[in-house]
Amino acid sequence: MSTEIPGSAQPLENLEQWDDFLEGRYKEGKSETEFRQYDAQADPGVAEFYRLNHENQTLDYVLRKEKEYFGLLLQTSEAMRRDGQPRWMILVGFIHDLGKCLCLYGEPQWGVVGDTFPVGCAWSEQVVFPEYFRNNPDRNVPEYQTKFGIYEPNCGFENVHMSFGHDGYIAEVMKPYLPDEALYMLRFHSFYAWHRHGAYTHLMNEKDAAMLKWVKKFNPYDLYSKGNAKPNLRDLKPYYDELFAEFLPQKISW
Ligand SMILES: [Fe+2]
Ligand SMILES: [Fe+2]
Repeated sequence: MSTEIPGSAQPLENLEQWDDFLEGRYKEGKSETEFRQYDAQADPGVAEFYRLNHENQTLDYVLRKEKEYFGLLLQTSEAMRRDGQPRWMILVGFIHDLGKCLCLYGEPQWGVVGDTFPVGCAWSEQVVFPEYFRNNPDRNVPEYQTKFGIYEPNCGFENVHMSFGHDGYIAEVMKPYLPDEALYMLRFHSFYAWHRHGAYTHLMNEKDAAMLKWVKKFNPYDLYSKGNAKPNLRDLKPYYDELFAEFLPQKISW
């Protein structure tokens, strides 16, 4: 759907502009009058940003967005919980798409979602829409066009550069906290050419082979839990608070 969202203009040049504004506003030792003076001199983009923010953040908007985002995350993990999957997997179900927030940091859609594939070696015909690699500049680098490219045979997918997206990002963030099975689910859940079509086995090592079944186990929950009844965030919060506390520290840098 491409309906015009009121206030969808982007007055900030980038998201850091807001941080810079705040930093200046809260420089130490300022009086209340100085705050007002500072605000009055704000960049017009920043002022316009605040206008849109304050005009659009209604209760209705917040409730809708909470449903849209939190509900989606919960559907995958709740389907896993119903099936009695291990607790670490339920956590993975909940967090696996959090990296999509990268879009909010100004990354383009094509750099956040989409099937993932190895870069630096020949593309498999099993990747969706392979014809669109036609105009990828790597096409003109002969080294990247060989079967193994920049990699050693069977070097393992953990040593392969996958196309950038939300999968690799969240796996990297969770690396210190979760078992390999979980990290594989996170890192490779959009690598359909591998887990669905069996491509790229020439780069696979024994660990990848052992982990494949977990990545496959994850996939139906990712694909087919969207239609389930919307879980109620408030009722489920205590369960998830406990689940996070079991695996994750209070603060995560991401
Ligand atoms: Fe995903
Ligand atoms: Fe997903």
